[in-house]
Amino acid sequence: MRVTVLNGPNLNLLGTREPERYGKATLAEVESLVQVEAAQLGIELDWRQSNHEGALIDAIQALPGRADGLLLNAAGYTHTSVAIRDALLAVRIPFVEVHLSNVYAREEFRHRSLMADLAIGVIAGFGPQGYLLGLRALHSRLSDG
Ligand code: DQA
Repeated sequence: MRVTVLNGPNLNLLGTREPERYGKATLAEVESLVQVEAAQLGIELDWRQSNHEGALIDAIQALPGRADGLLLNAAGYTHTSVAIRDALLAVRIPFVEVHLSNVYAREEFRHRSLMADLAIGVIAGFGPQGYLLGLRALHSRLSDG
């Protein structure tokens, strides 16, 4: 099973970016955690981050034939990007939406996701653990056939 993890803008700054909200782990440390879990589940992981909407869209468009599922933290684009939504609709790859923070306990503009209704499910508020929960959920959904 192959899973791509796509991380959106500013997630490259994890560790120093608002640590009280996002924690002290760097993105590389989160990736290591997720890689260990992926290995245990027999998942081949492709981990990516981009600050650019177009690069995220290119990565989504490239998923068919390359990945069975997607773990997506589109970060700020979650709340704004019709174009990322359209790319997800175009490829129809099963995905789980993940957020480190509890977006529903934050500003109102973060309560709306332009992609959540297309996702298998959404995990928010559990920090890096959310990526592990999302990976397990995706794995079990993809194994169901
Ligand atoms: C985030 C939540 C978004 O609202 C925010 O713009 C981010 C990170 C999260 O993981 O909690 O950049 O996706």
